[in-house]
Amino acid sequence: MTPPPRRSTKLQLYAPWIDEDEVEAAAAALRSGWLGMGARVAELEERFASLIGCEHAVALNSCTAALNLTLVAGGVHAGATVITTPYTFTASAEAAMRTGADVKFVDIDAATLNIRPEAVEAALTPDTKAIVPVHIAGHPCDMAGMRDVADRHGALLLDDAAHALMARTGGARVGSVGGATAFSFYPTKHMTTIEGGMVTTNDAALAEGVKGIRYHAMSRDTWARQETRKPWAYDVVAQGHKCNMTDVAAAVGLAQLDKLPGQMPIRERIAMRYSEAFADLPEVETPAVPSSGSHAWHLYILRLNAEALDIDRDDFILALNDLNISAIVHYIPLHLFTHYQRTCGVREGDFPNAESAYSRVVSLPLWPGMDEQDTEDVVDAVTWLVKKHARRRAS
Ligand SMILES: Cc1ncc(COP(=O)(O)O)c(C=O)c1O
Repeated sequence: MTPPPRRSTKLQLYAPWIDEDEVEAAAAALRSGWLGMGARVAELEERFASLIGCEHAVALNSCTAALNLTLVAGGVHAGATVITTPYTFTASAEAAMRTGADVKFVDIDAATLNIRPEAVEAALTPDTKAIVPVHIAGHPCDMAGMRDVADRHGALLLDDAAHALMARTGGARVGSVGGATAFSFYPTKHMTTIEGGMVTTNDAALAEGVKGIRYHAMSRDTWARQETRKPWAYDVVAQGHKCNMTDVAAAVGLAQLDKLPGQMPIRERIAMRYSEAFADLPEVETPAVPSSGSHAWHLYILRLNAEALDIDRDDFILALNDLNISAIVHYIPLHLFTHYQRTCGVREGDFPNAESAYSRVVSLPLWPGMDEQDTEDVVDAVTWLVKKHARRRAS
């Protein structure tokens, strides 16, 4: 078996889709004389809400802030419990813990890598004030089921859609069906404002609550005071946060928003090409496709069937790197980290599906700037490695 040629350049796991549109938009904002939160932030909020099909969107400086401030505005406090998944980036749980609440993890579904409404329901207690499902990799959670559990229990449903911009759950866009939804505009995500995030909701009081605390809980922010007779006058009405988005960031976001529809078919085409190419390899498992709704394909998470291979996951990734193809692990489950073991009373062995996934996952390059040759290089490298290390294959 001849190995595929090593690529002459490194294929990144992800690269942002930035061109002159973003450069010009940022330059115009910089030249405008107004850099902080102003008209461009308001425009991004309006256009984002209309894209998602929800009533309100509130811009922040990260998805972590979006999660944290929404929980605070939704009344989550010390002594409350927030249910979430251990199979996510630390921000999902960190944001909940920063409210003073306790985090309770429930194990994921082995096929989708998402938590299921049944598991959430089984973990509910009278202290549960919020449920934070995460649409991992862009695979939408069962939001109708989650909504049902949350509504019956009177808990806030706040989905973490850092991976799921443009995904659909049932017939609706993710972001239009939770109590509220948090999005990330970090550089690796579908769209970027460098650092940034957004909360979407149909709940006017919740949107006002987040807006009210994102800029020091001042009764009127600097922009709103500009046109008044006494622009220096304001009150501080609650415990504030400093989590607002800037107009320069929003200018980049507005240019990125225009690129969203065009990138979704490219993401889907790459993901489908991988899944088709690997379908005949019993040594690997391709990602599940949603039974209803649509995937946002933020990540392509391949899983190795360890017993069928004589190479472990880490060495598999290193071997891809040797061929100049980046690959990585999403995620180390949160209950394996020191902080969560110390603060949440969790330990290794508690969430077998999350641990099993962790031991097998390999995230492959997936971003809209990849061309066909890039995609085929990944297909060839993975196929060659799997065949080379298959324990036994009928020829
Ligand atoms: C699932 C998930 N939630 C939240 C975040 C936090 O996003 P941000 O960096 O915008 O705070 C991330 C970031 O990668 C993430 O992957």
